[in-house]
Amino acid sequence: MSRVYNFSAGPAVLPEEVLKEAAEEMLDYKGCGMSVMEMSHRSKVYDNIIKEAEADLRELMNIPDNYYVLFLQGGASQQFSAIPMNLMRNKKAGYIITGQWAKKAAAEAKKYGEVIELASSADKNFSYIPDCSDLPITDDMDYVYICENNTIYGTKYKELPNTKGVDLVADVSSCFLSEPVDVSKYALIYGGVQKNVGPAGVVVVIIRKDLVKDDVMPFTPTMLKYKTQADNDSLYNTPPCYNIYICGKVFKWLKKLGGLEKMKELNEEKAKILYDFLDESEMFKGTVEKEDRSLMNVPFVTGDKDLDAKFVKEAAEAGFVNLKGHRTVGGMRASIYNAMPKEGVVKLVEFMREFEKNNK
Ligand SMILES: Cc1ncc(COP(=O)(O)O)c(C=O)c1O
Repeated sequence: MSRVYNFSAGPAVLPEEVLKEAAEEMLDYKGCGMSVMEMSHRSKVYDNIIKEAEADLRELMNIPDNYYVLFLQGGASQQFSAIPMNLMRNKKAGYIITGQWAKKAAAEAKKYGEVIELASSADKNFSYIPDCSDLPITDDMDYVYICENNTIYGTKYKELPNTKGVDLVADVSSCFLSEPVDVSKYALIYGGVQKNVGPAGVVVVIIRKDLVKDDVMPFTPTMLKYKTQADNDSLYNTPPCYNIYICGKVFKWLKKLGGLEKMKELNEEKAKILYDFLDESEMFKGTVEKEDRSLMNVPFVTGDKDLDAKFVKEAAEAGFVNLKGHRTVGGMRASIYNAMPKEGVVKLVEFMREFEKNNK
C-alpha cells in the first residue's frame, strides 16, 4: 500500500486510523453480520450510530441545548437556498462577499428576497477579509451571512463581524472542527463535511431552536424545511447512513486527540511551517493578506505560470498530490485540513526548498 500526501481542497484527506477502522468493519459491523451500508436506517444499531455521532459532535463543539444538530443532504450548496427559504421571514438579509461561495449563496438568496451586499473583497481578488466592525446592517435584516473560511482564496475571519444584534449565519465548510467556536454567537452554522469531517454527501446544520418553525416560505420543499428534519432527528427520509457513520468516527478521532483546542494547536503549528517558508522564499509567495490567512487552505504562486505547472507536476511525481490552485487564483493551493499529518507539510516544504534551489 502506498498513500500519497493529498492536499486536495475537497473531498480531502481523512484520518488513516478512521479509514482502517472502517475497513475492518466493512463486512461485519460489530458482530451484526452486515456492513453499515447495508443496514436499515431505522434499525437499533444505526440509531445508536447517528445518536452517538450527534452526541460526540455536541461534546466537541460544546453545542448548547437550544441548538439542533441536523445531518442533511444536498451539500453545502443546497443550504444556499434552504437558508433564505427558512429564515428570510422579513425577506431581507445582508451578505458579506469574500469569495465565490459567498457570492453563490447571495445569488441564490436573491431569488427569495432582498440581498444587501454589506461588504466585499472582490476589489483585490478576495485576498483579504473586509473590515466588518461597522457595516450598514439594519434591524429589518433577517440575518447576516458569511463564508467563514474561503476555500478558494485561503482567507479566514479571525474575528466575527459585528452584526449589531442581527442573527449570524456562517458557512464553515472548510474550517469545520479545525478550532473551537462559540456556537452561541451564531444563529446557524453549516458545513459540507467533505473537507474536514467525512465523505461527501453530508452537510451538518447547527441551528438555534427558536428559528426552526413552520413559518417558512410557502413553496419550501418538505425536505428543505429545517422543522421537518429537526422533528424527525435527521431521519425524515433515508439519510446518507454510511457517510454519517464515518463522520462519527472522525468525531471520535478528534475527541481522542484532545478535542478542538488541541486540533487548533496542531493546525497552527502545521500552517506556520508552510507560511514561514512562503515568507522567506524568493520563489514562492502567499497570495493572501497575512492577518487573514486561513489555517486550512494555503494558496501560493511563483509568478510564472510555466514554473507553477512544472512544480505541480514534479510535486505529484514525488507524492504530493492535488496542489494545483483554483483557476481563479492560479498557482498552487495546499489544503492542510485536520487529517493532514504535520509530516506531510514538513516534507512538502522540504520539496519546495529543493525545487527552488534547482530552478533558480
Ligand atoms: C466554503 C464552501 N462552501 C460551499 C461549498 C460547496 O459545497 P458542496 O459541494 O458540498 O455543495 C464549498 C465547496 O468546496 C466550499 O468550500
